[in-house]
Amino acid sequence: MKQDLLKRENQNEDDNLQEPDVQKELQQIRIGILGFGTVGTGVYRIINQHQDDLQSQTGSQISIDKILVNSLDKLRSVDINPDLLTTDPNDVLQDPDIDIVVEVMGGVTEAREYIAQALKLKKHVVTANKDLIASYGGELLSLANENGCDLFYEASVAGGIPILRGLGEGFSSDRITKMLGILNGTTNYMLSKMAQEGMDYDTCLKQAQDLGYAEADPTSDVEGLDAARKIAILGTLGYHTEISLDEVDVLGISSIDQKDVQYGKEFGYELKLLGIADRQEDEIELSVQPTFIKKSHPLAHVDGVYNAVYVHGESVGETMFYGPGAGEMPTATAITSDLVTVVKNIKLGVNGRGKVAPYNIKKMKPKERRYQRYFVRLIVQDESGVMATIAESLSKYDMSISNMVQKPLEDQQAEIVIITHKASLSALESWKGSINSLNPTMKLASYYPVEGGE
Ligand code: NAP
Ligand code: HSE
Repeated sequence: MKQDLLKRENQNEDDNLQEPDVQKELQQIRIGILGFGTVGTGVYRIINQHQDDLQSQTGSQISIDKILVNSLDKLRSVDINPDLLTTDPNDVLQDPDIDIVVEVMGGVTEAREYIAQALKLKKHVVTANKDLIASYGGELLSLANENGCDLFYEASVAGGIPILRGLGEGFSSDRITKMLGILNGTTNYMLSKMAQEGMDYDTCLKQAQDLGYAEADPTSDVEGLDAARKIAILGTLGYHTEISLDEVDVLGISSIDQKDVQYGKEFGYELKLLGIADRQEDEIELSVQPTFIKKSHPLAHVDGVYNAVYVHGESVGETMFYGPGAGEMPTATAITSDLVTVVKNIKLGVNGRGKVAPYNIKKMKPKERRYQRYFVRLIVQDESGVMATIAESLSKYDMSISNMVQKPLEDQQAEIVIITHKASLSALESWKGSINSLNPTMKLASYYPVEGGE
């Protein structure tokens, strides 16, 4: 008897196992893609190459119905039916059969208009556009919500690393205190090549462009704006408050001197373009700057196009997310994973309901309370008393020396390289302003923040 029951139970289980194949018809999900450059091509490849996995996970067949491009004559790196390509955005936006729009064309004005149009027509949207999300994310997310649509943008920060999911879901129960990120693949690639192979700035920028890492206009990469957009997105999600781009202090890598990279190494530091978001007692500070970081810190070993985001939470402690930060397939992976979530939400009927609107009041930390150590390089006349003058000038602004070396130059000049103890940003700025009046022959050649260590 018991065995009969067991047999019947197993039989039922077998029937259930077969059910999806035999009884359920695959739902068709149709997508339209705005843009078919580096990232759009990757999305096309993954949807075609991983179709079986996507079907198994979503129970749906995902097909690409239309792709918007600028030029129909351009040579493409994949074989594609030319009928799929169009130069008319309405072929994607106004097609009632298209359920999801993937925006990978870049830029702000048209992308914003097209995404808004898609959402108003109840189409879900997946985008990789950090320029757009950093400036208009709040507005577009509200629009998505009003229309019961999903708007996902995992690929907009750190390429293939699922950091937005990590913050929004993995750490939803914690309070994030600090995020440190290498958030731009182009500049990390360039800094690695410059530091390890002595390659010059223009050659490594050209390589990063050829590899598809850089933005259409790479100024936003090298001047730090791309990373600033990403840290603003991370800050908004991590601190549950709306961070705007102008609240991030930004400095890029275009004026970095190779000498500083080498001197930093002698002190045991690597120079990285770091995005920093810090929250203490509810006051927030955000910046993107070339920053020295101790060689023993895991971020110091993130090289090439790799990105990493170090996240500190009150309860979880230290964590780090690492992976490729740009490029065709890593970025396309993030987009296609967003697509899978949208399709699953369609099946569950829960689109547009998962987002948590920012709920914390924002308080930015004033410069007087923004403490940091600094690397400073001065060029001085190599004469007696100069060290004392420097030390006195620093102490006038409550700054002090932790480490110092002197390097001889020609013509009786010398370079003085200093690592300070922690000092406030306002103190550093006042000290910088006073240098010339203190000693007209003394010149501040460079300065960078130094992360951690005290
Ligand atoms: P891309 O290679 O320059 O491709 C842009 C595509 O959009 C091209 O196919 C272009 O058409 C099309 N396009 C641009 N403006 C258009 C317009 N006004 N009308 C019609 N088509 C237009 O750019 P991408 O590197 O793939 O980047 C796309 C987006 O992903 C950007 O927002 C970027 O910031 C973001 N992103 C890129 C990466 C990366 O590693 N590349 C990583 C993360 C996020 P044609 O092909 O005909 O010129
Ligand atoms: N240009 C960007 C970078 C692409 O180099 O990181 C990824 O967002």
